Order: sequence, then C-alpha cells, then structure tokens
Amino acid sequence: MLAAVRSAALVGIDAYDVTVEVDAAAGLPQWTIVGLAAGAVKESRERVGAALVNSGFVVPPRRITVNLAPADVRKEGTAFDLPIALGILIATGQLDSRSVAGRLFVGELGLDGALRSMRGSLPVARHALRSGVRALVLPPANVAEASRLSGIALCAPVSLQALVSQLRGDELEPAMAERTAPAADAEDLDFSDVVGQEAAKRALEVAAAGGHNVMLIGPPGAGKTMLARRMATVLPPLSEEEALEVVAIHSVAGVLDEGMIAHGVRPFRAPHHTISSAGLIGGGSWPRPGEVSLAHNGVLFLDEMLEFPRHVLDALRQPMEDARVVIARAAQAVSFPARFTLVGASNPCPCGRGGGITAECTCAQSEIERYAARLSGPLADRIDMHVTVGPVALRELSGKSTGSSSRNIRARVERARGRQRARYAAMRGVGCNAHASGRWLDSRTVVKPDARSLLQTAAERLGLSARGYHRVLKVARTIADLEDSVSVAALHIGEALQYRPVRRDEKSN
Ligand SMILES: Nc1ncnc2c1ncn2[C@@H]1O[C@H](COP(=O)(O)OP(=O)(O)OP(=O)(O)O)[C@@H](O)[C@H]1O
Ligand SMILES: [Mg+2]
Ligand SMILES: [Zn+2]
Repeated sequence: MLAAVRSAALVGIDAYDVTVEVDAAAGLPQWTIVGLAAGAVKESRERVGAALVNSGFVVPPRRITVNLAPADVRKEGTAFDLPIALGILIATGQLDSRSVAGRLFVGELGLDGALRSMRGSLPVARHALRSGVRALVLPPANVAEASRLSGIALCAPVSLQALVSQLRGDELEPAMAERTAPAADAEDLDFSDVVGQEAAKRALEVAAAGGHNVMLIGPPGAGKTMLARRMATVLPPLSEEEALEVVAIHSVAGVLDEGMIAHGVRPFRAPHHTISSAGLIGGGSWPRPGEVSLAHNGVLFLDEMLEFPRHVLDALRQPMEDARVVIARAAQAVSFPARFTLVGASNPCPCGRGGGITAECTCAQSEIERYAARLSGPLADRIDMHVTVGPVALRELSGKSTGSSSRNIRARVERARGRQRARYAAMRGVGCNAHASGRWLDSRTVVKPDARSLLQTAAERLGLSARGYHRVLKVARTIADLEDSVSVAALHIGEALQYRPVRRDEKSN
C-alpha cells in the first residue's frame, strides 16, 4: 500500500509543502529514498529504521521506497525522519492512513525514537498556518518558537511511540508553550558608562534615529568599541513583524536562543575580522544565513573594520545595496533578508596612533593611505556618517560620567523614528531616512533657503557627488527629526556636513 504524509521543507526563510510517499512492496528487503534527497536526508534510513525497531514497531522485510515530492527541489536536513517513519507504519499496515490526514509532520528522530529539535520550525509553522492544516506536529524543543504565531494547533509528542498512540486514538494532545522567564540583562550596557565623548554619542544617536551606517575612527583606547557596543541600547523595540523575521532567520541558522524567542531582541552581531566571506554573507551547499542576515533589523558591528580582508568587506556591497542576500546554487537560488545598520570602528592608521595627540604616529604617509584604501570607495559611499573619536584625558576617565544615558537617548530616537514612520508609511521596505531614496527625499522635504544655499556651497567647495549631496541631506533630515522640526534648517545641514566622509577624491579646495 502507498502512504502519503504531509511535511515541509525550507528554502531560505520560507517553507513549502513536501509530501512524503512511502511504498512497501514485496521483494528483496531494501530501502531507497528518491526525490533529490541530499546530505542528512539520505541518512534518514538509518535513524528511522532504528527508531522504529526501538519503539517496538516491526519493519517487515519489504522493498521500501520513499519519495519526497515535488522531486525537482533539493531537500536537506533531518526533519523528514518523522514523516518517513509514519509513512512506513502506514504502508506496512501498522497505522491508519486517515490518522495523518490534514496534519503536517516535521522532526528528527533519535535512534531511541525520541523527537529531536530541528532548524526552521517558525517558517514551517507559518507555512502550516497559511495552508490551513488541522495541526502541526513538531519536536517539543521547537514549540516555544512556533507558538510565536497564534492560530495554529501544535502537537509536540516526546517520541514516535507517544505520537503513534495518540494518532491511533485520533486525539492529539495540544502542546503548551512554556513562557520563558524574562532573561536578566547579562551585560547591562549603558551610554552613561562612557565618560566624555559627547560628540561621538551624539553621532550614534543620529545614526540610530535615522538608521544610518556609521564609522568610528580614532586611536586605541578612545572608547570606540565601548561606544559601538552600546548602539543597540538606544534602538527602538522590534515590531511584531520584525521580531518574527529575526526569529525565523536565527531559527533557520540554528542559532536561536530563548531570550530572542521570548522577547524579540534586536540583533547585535559582532563578527571577528578573521571571518570568511561565506560566514559574513551566508553560504554552504545548503545555504545558511550569514552574519549580515543574522544582523537583519539590528546592528552589524565590524570592530577593527580595516583589518577585515578587502574581498570580505567588498562582499558587503550587494547586501547593503539590496537589503537582502542572494546565494546562487546549481539547484536553486536562495535569498535571505539582510537589512542592518553597519557600525564600523577603526584606527586611523596601521600603528593606530595617527589620530592621537599624546603619541607620535610612526606610519609613513603611503602606509596611512594604503590602510584607508582598504575601505573601497563604493563601500565608504554607503556609510552615511564618519565620526572621529578623540582620545579621552586620563583624569577625565577617573571621574564619573554625567553624560547622556541610553534611556534618554532612546526616547529621542523613538520620537524621531515615529516621524519617519509617518513619512514613509506608504513606502514598502522603507522605515527610516537612511533607506529612503535621496532624490525622493530631496523633492519631498522642506529645506529652508539658507540651509539649501549652505548645502549647495558646501557641495561645490567639497566637490560632492550627487550621492554625497543626498547623503548629507538624509543625515540632516534625521537631525531635524530628532528636533521634531518639519523643515531642514541650516543648523541641521551644518551638523550633517561634519559627518561627511573625508575621501581622497573629494578635494578640499
Ligand atoms: N570614554 C571612556 N569612558 C570610560 N571608559 C573608557 C572610555 N574610553 C576608554 N575607556 C576604557 O578603555 C578601555 C578601552 O576602550 P575601547 O576598547 O572601547 O577602545 P577602542 O577605541 O576600541 O580601542 P582600540 O582601537 O584599541 O580597539 C575600555 O574598556 C574602557 O575601560
Ligand atoms: Mg576597539
Ligand atoms: Zn600610525
């Protein structure tokens, strides 16, 4: 008899229907899995066989064929174990085919028949909800994640045996999502920890408010790393939709933690400069999200940014342009969202003291130039704000900080974001000034005449490109939003001009 059990597979952060068909025919006892099964799916045979036997079922000596339909999409992972096992039970007359009707099954099986956690259960749950199944049967470890969606019946048996006895009675026990206790903030970072550096804090406030990419440049020990790590503390909370995207990406990557499931924390990713471009962008024969996608809706912090190999940095250009990564594979192209705010930190030169006042820089001019050139023009062009962080005097460090706290900054950032949400309400995929088109903003925002002439004079004097011109305008718009000002004034343009990247091709005269 031919059995058909409904399951699902992942492409990127979406899931699609897979029907697991099992045929048990008379003949030499053997197993075949067809339907573009790759990697771990092929090993299903061993796990499922042992799980069935160890759960007290019989595996009759038949010729068993498993087909994963549709057959034209490559399938990976271990989540087909459960539907394959059920298919075999149905095909060999140990389970009624009606008991699986209208239900969707995913999960890896241990050799003892236990249901083990899988990657990507949130996308699977979303798919199950859309396709209107009666229930989604999944491993207990994945319930918390899947129950972020409401309106879907979940069942999470501990083992194959427990599931089969429920199916035989046609009564599935509903899974209860355990509400995890709010995680205590382990780090408890705050901008008030940073002594002085008010100009840099202000720049990060502007960057957070408008979603601008920002680069911090300064000598060792100036507090760049310290400042950047506090960026996430001033960003507004994730919307429900943003949180779901974040959970889905982290789930598919297999790096979801409980705090993220429960509270939808804004991601802050800080990969080391030894990371490969596949690690940063995403990759693998079964593509997984890279750091740029794990940072989606959050911050990607590249500390010691100029220490990253040039080709790794250049790989950032495409995701920064499209807010999405496309990984092409022979079988199919997979895409992952990647809209992040980039925060880079770097020393001004190889010895690191070039920007210092107390120490002499020992670098030759040519070395300094070669160092700066590691940040290619097109990438530097996508960083709206370049901020110089000066050294702090030792005696200042011993004092208590009295400067801005994360709480106050976040309140201002949220208000500025509110203005932007209203401005871009009708535009899909645009939530803040950094994502808007410069041309659109230029035609829609009120720029006071003296502000306009200041911008034009500066543009001519500095030889700004059209892109550079619009970049200054966008940052100025954010500064105006922070002040709750309808129009962009000269003061706003003036501050925005300070964050302009100094490029060798923009002559100072
Ligand atoms: N403004 C500051 N307020 C309080 N502490 C500071 C400040 N600046 C530096 N520090 C102290 O100095 C240490 C080094 O700072 P941090 O690592 O942020 O510097 P950096 O600019 O990233 O240096 P590097 O270029 O070497 O990476 C911090 O851990 C902190 O203890
Ligand atoms: Mg540092
Ligand atoms: Zn130097």
